[in-house]
Amino acid sequence: MKSDNWYILGAGSMGCLWAASLCHKGEAPRLILRDSNYQQLKESHAPLKLTTAGQSFQYHVDVVSPETLNAPINRLIVCTKAQNALEAINSIKSHLTESGQILLLQNGMGSQQAINEAFPTQSVWAGSSTDGAYLAAPFEVCHAGQGETWIGPMTDNSVSVDRFNDLLSNFRLKVSPCDTIEQKLWEKLAINCCINGLTALFNCRNGELLDNGEKQAWLDLLMAETCSVLTALDIHTPSLKERVYGVCQATANNISSTCQDARQGRATELPFINGFLINKAENLSIPVNSHKQLMDQLRASGIN
Ligand SMILES: NC(=O)c1ccc[n+]([C@@H]2O[C@H](COP(=O)([O-])OP(=O)(O)OC[C@H]3O[C@@H](n4cnc5c(N)ncnc54)[C@H](OP(=O)(O)O)[C@@H]3O)[C@@H](O)[C@H]2O)c1
Repeated sequence: MKSDNWYILGAGSMGCLWAASLCHKGEAPRLILRDSNYQQLKESHAPLKLTTAGQSFQYHVDVVSPETLNAPINRLIVCTKAQNALEAINSIKSHLTESGQILLLQNGMGSQQAINEAFPTQSVWAGSSTDGAYLAAPFEVCHAGQGETWIGPMTDNSVSVDRFNDLLSNFRLKVSPCDTIEQKLWEKLAINCCINGLTALFNCRNGELLDNGEKQAWLDLLMAETCSVLTALDIHTPSLKERVYGVCQATANNISSTCQDARQGRATELPFINGFLINKAENLSIPVNSHKQLMDQLRASGIN
């Protein structure tokens, strides 16, 4: 086995998509599962299936668990949800090399900063992705929306982009380097913190937020508060209103990941989206009452 094999932590939609894409390139990524899921998948000998642009592919991927890991990890891609990322890396911490590379693909913000602090010797990069993927079944991923992923260092003194070259060229996914990844993460967070929680609260599709009524009025308040925080942080994004309305219109029939999580009684990533914004706003003494009210009402409805 090569010492610079990519390890992928989390075999959900993104983990399977990235693993399949690396396999397609001829790489031999290893997927790290929780101990509890590992045995079942290992015994099934199931190949990893990818459906994309009307074509289907199968790959044989090595799966491991924290207990069965037997090699140092130099290159790691973390594909868990934001709330699980730090705990997941900690479960394989003893295998991470001191100068290893970690690429974080979580939505929202806060988990990347916590991991960057917890792993000061490693080179921590974050990604912001517009790809869309879902699992049709365990280990069967559908790449439903071809997007782009920007990746960049969480600190200025991180290693050169060359170490990520095999994700940047001749790769099935579109990946681009970005010197200002925190700005990119903020741009996505700004849109998500207006749309996602509301769709979960009203249990509605993205397009239904533009109803000329209660939902749209709330959407407008969330956008105004988000803009105040971005301005105070000196983060310049293209018109938030245009972007939020544009997403609601372009994805009118979509059910946001947050709304899907809420429907299935799973924890959402909102503490890393609206929660992160609220914390920043409080530090800056900027009122974000609509965001707080949204989070309170979600909690009261049993959505966390
Ligand atoms: N899917 C998309 O289209 C998409 C697009 C852009 C960005 N993202 C972002 O990418 C991230 C991952 O999303 P996803 O859709 O791939 O989520 P997902 O399908 O829920 O996959 C997350 C995976 O992580 C696993 N996991 C959690 N804790 C773990 C641990 N300690 N050790 C090993 N595995 C662990 C989960 O296993 P269990 O099921 O056992 O908990 C699950 O298989 C999220 O932040 C999401 O917002 C997703």
